[in-house]
Amino acid sequence: MSGPAFRGRVLEGDMEERAIGVVGLGTMGSGIVQLIAQAGFRVKAVEAGREALARGMRRVREGLQRILEKGKIDEEAMEAALSRISGGTEMAESLAECSLVVEAVPEDAELKRSVFSEMDRVCAPETVLASNTSTIRITSLASATRRPDRVLGTHFLYPAPAIPLVEVIRGRETSDDTLHRGIEFLKACGKDVVVVNDSPGFAINRLFIPFVNEAFFALQEGVATAEEIDRACRIGLAHPSGPLTAADAFGLDVVLAVMRVLHKELGEKYRPAPLLVELVEGGRLGRKTGRGVYEYDTA
Ligand SMILES: NC(=O)c1ccc[n+]([C@@H]2O[C@H](COP(=O)([O-])OP(=O)(O)OC[C@H]3O[C@@H](n4cnc5c(N)ncnc54)[C@H](O)[C@@H]3O)[C@@H](O)[C@H]2O)c1
Repeated sequence: MSGPAFRGRVLEGDMEERAIGVVGLGTMGSGIVQLIAQAGFRVKAVEAGREALARGMRRVREGLQRILEKGKIDEEAMEAALSRISGGTEMAESLAECSLVVEAVPEDAELKRSVFSEMDRVCAPETVLASNTSTIRITSLASATRRPDRVLGTHFLYPAPAIPLVEVIRGRETSDDTLHRGIEFLKACGKDVVVVNDSPGFAINRLFIPFVNEAFFALQEGVATAEEIDRACRIGLAHPSGPLTAADAFGLDVVLAVMRVLHKELGEKYRPAPLLVELVEGGRLGRKTGRGVYEYDTA
């Protein structure tokens, strides 16, 4: 895909030609930047510091390189996508001209609320603010702004460029117009959407993360080895990687954060597996730290 695919309500009137912002270029944000740039939008990426920004931009390039090697895009499309992305460390500079901003900072309610408050301060009043949160209530993030009607959830799944679905979360105050603008933007990125209400874990994580958590219980109780649990789910359930490999890719800290919210809000049956807690406390967070359930070659 190339060219300015972004048309319609998000860019109506003087919004035309405005860019999309992405705040936080980690596991998810870097994939979201890649996807949006490939879809033809200009992207303004914001990170917390110079080093994190360089790391995030490197991840975006590596993501494009991977699909280039698979023959899904050519060199020209890759360079065109990269040319649409600009990175910075100051929200005020980067986000002023954005019509929609996707927040993808770590799953910490206080951090996200402060980022939403800052985005609200620096963005134009009509800008839509979206969160990629896995579990935090959109209504709570919206209440940190003066535009709760222009806040919604856009829950991309890992890896964002490849998974065709995005969960759209409607907060208590989200207006119909904001919902439509969000959906229109996601469709322009080639995504299918489901609209869900603002409840713990929304739909996908409410169903999938307890399954991953159960795999940690099975592993700690010696039901089977990690490899066999994953192999059983790949072959028997048609899961692409198996739950333990998936957990390493998401980040075990992210899996645990989701389970903690489900546990707190929905009760005992969502208790995090002790093995999962132990691995996170020991710094084994998965691929991003080189060790999780499995060991990775980080050289
Ligand atoms: N990892 C997954 O598989 C997955 C899947 C779906 C949704 N999510 C959600 O996406 C969000 C991001 O998760 P992630 O796994 O990409 O986290 P991550 O830790 O990999 O990346 C977060 C990035 O945000 C940056 N950051 C922190 N504070 C910032 C600030 N004030 N301004 C700008 N950048 C800042 C960090 O430097 C880091 O690079 C979370 O809400 C998570 O729950 C994650």
